[in-house]
Amino acid sequence: MQALNTTSLALKENRLWTLDQQALPQEKRWLPCDSVDELVGHIRALRVRGAPLIGLSASLLLALLAERGLPPAELEQALFTLRAARPTAVNLMNNLDRMKQALAQPDWVTAMGEEALRLVAEDKALCERIADNGVELVIPSSRLLTHCNTGGLATAGVGTAIGVLLRAHQQDKITQVWVDETRPLLQGGRLTAWELGELGIPYQLICDSMAASLMAAGQVDAVWVGADRIAANGDVANKIGTYSLAVLAYYHRIPFYVAAPHTTHDPHCPNGVAIPIEQRAAEEVTGVAGSFGSCQWAPADAPVYNPAFDVTPAALISGWVLDSGVITPEQVADGIFQRVLG
Ligand code: MRU
Repeated sequence: MQALNTTSLALKENRLWTLDQQALPQEKRWLPCDSVDELVGHIRALRVRGAPLIGLSASLLLALLAERGLPPAELEQALFTLRAARPTAVNLMNNLDRMKQALAQPDWVTAMGEEALRLVAEDKALCERIADNGVELVIPSSRLLTHCNTGGLATAGVGTAIGVLLRAHQQDKITQVWVDETRPLLQGGRLTAWELGELGIPYQLICDSMAASLMAAGQVDAVWVGADRIAANGDVANKIGTYSLAVLAYYHRIPFYVAAPHTTHDPHCPNGVAIPIEQRAAEEVTGVAGSFGSCQWAPADAPVYNPAFDVTPAALISGWVLDSGVITPEQVADGIFQRVLG
């Protein structure tokens, strides 16, 4: 397959490499990825993370395995295993459905290689269109708040919500970004802070619990987040903590925007209640661990509840900023996600 280079994915000498998102920002470490088990391990440990990136990395690995001569029955099994790597982000399932169709072609090796590279190119283009659409909603001198990480690390392009922030910064519309640290795994504090710094976008890092008082003080003009799955009624699953931000934004009459490619939309999922929410290990809440070291502050046997995502009801969302355009609450109430995109 032809060489490929994005912020967090690379194809070099017919090998897949992924940027270790657990090592950032302390270390920029690239991990080779040669087997399904290895990639599933990276995805579950969030070394490879973000809804679009999970799907793209799985598709590229499958294409490489086909090229290395893995027989169709084993590729079918690989598809099945990769599909179960994480349950919430539907991009993984959507991308793997496309790879499954390629596997059904007479020349499946070529078809899978072309399809995987097409998915990467498409994602890059989708990010650009989301940024084009989103920037129109940003008012000059904005102070915008974001949660988790939705940038080049999580996609093949400029990102979703962060893509909008970048475009708005390039158009001189942003005074600064408030970056939620995003407990428990700190995607905001570790990854978004690093990415915004690299992009030269002014930001200040906050603990998640600080958003409310900032909003009350009139310091937040809009909230921009990504999505892992958009249900047919417009409910959105995204990183845990997104729902509380949406409630806060609603109370303070601040616009709350969700930026996502259409590959995040699941027309088969009627509403947020039907979205499977991943539950994660207790150690992520009883302490922290990473390339910065590790520390446990809670009793080792403390009972823990640790959902990786929550659901924001459509009623709290001011706009769904997709590659195809901005969808309004009125259009969602009118069933647009079932009709146009389904
Ligand atoms: O658990 P993660 O880090 O994979 O969660 C990521 C998010 O919730 C992102 O907001 C979402 O995937 C969109 S990334 C463009």
